[in-house]
Amino acid sequence: MKDETFHFEAAINPYGCSAKVVEAVERFARSKQYRFYGEPDAASLRELLAAHHNLSPENFVVFNGAGEALAWTFLLNLVMRPGRLIAPHPSYERFVEAGKRYSAELIEVPLDEQNFSLSVNELIDACRTSRATLGLVSNPNNPSGNTLIDEAGMAKLLDDTPDCLWIIDEAYADYAGLSFASWVQERTNLMVLRTFSKAYGLAGLRVGCAVAHASVAQKLARVRLPWAVNSMSLAAAQAAIEDQDYLKEILGRIRNDCENFYSELCKIPFFHVHPTAANFFLIRLSGIEPSRLKKHLAAHRIQVRSRPDMPEYIRITSMLPQENQHLLNVLREFEP
Ligand SMILES: Cc1ncc(COP(=O)(O)O)c(C=O)c1O
Repeated sequence: MKDETFHFEAAINPYGCSAKVVEAVERFARSKQYRFYGEPDAASLRELLAAHHNLSPENFVVFNGAGEALAWTFLLNLVMRPGRLIAPHPSYERFVEAGKRYSAELIEVPLDEQNFSLSVNELIDACRTSRATLGLVSNPNNPSGNTLIDEAGMAKLLDDTPDCLWIIDEAYADYAGLSFASWVQERTNLMVLRTFSKAYGLAGLRVGCAVAHASVAQKLARVRLPWAVNSMSLAAAQAAIEDQDYLKEILGRIRNDCENFYSELCKIPFFHVHPTAANFFLIRLSGIEPSRLKKHLAAHRIQVRSRPDMPEYIRITSMLPQENQHLLNVLREFEP
């Protein structure tokens, strides 16, 4: 069935994956390779990930998306030493919800009300006071799109809170060009989550990984089920990481689309658009009734992201240029 809805609510890559990934999946299907069990521990993908991040395969544990990597990390923590989880607020609500279920207590450190920046010192103080054992930071952040922590902030955070394992969710890091993955060689209280769902355009195939010091990754690998990720998805992820030319091209295109979309969105009088390091925009609505705008968009089959704890905000992903243009036209028709 054809989906006639415009999906601005999902922070995906609207261009999709490389043609080489499609070829790899077709090849996989035609060869009937699916009759066999694949690699139990995603060894080939881990080798490619290691080469890509200049690390060793021992630093990687592959899961069905960053979400599954996080769930297993939470579970391990729950079983080993149920402790407190600390996270900035607002951040990716699905992961924070999972954290709440798996942790003794969730400590939320509010981001700046105006620009959603993070005070690393406040995070450190809250972590020390609460004696949190796990920390979760999305960098860039969802829903605000900004980078929360830079190199100096990360070094201080890891140095000052050695008993907390910091999970840095880098789902959108390809857009921002900043990754802490290489730091895991030196740091045992850092785990980086990476995913093929975003810039690589493979959200539905469910592949992601945890990157950590070998001693930490080993613990996580122990609880991971063999063949957890299906072999067709692994074949797709392998082809995706091998085609860095496509990734580079698509990142350039998306950056360009985002710049154009941002300057047009800023002209909408009832919008306050937050700058982004990712491919979506958090927008504060002012002087209008948010539900009226959402109704107007829904009447044009346009979905945007909203969340109950931020009623005056919506989040919009930059989709294909013609889709962005369509949304802008529909927004301009709205009578506040
Ligand atoms: C910050 C963040 N992390 C992770 C994910 C999902 O990652 P995965 O599809 O690998 O589970 C999302 C999806 O929206 C996200 O916004």
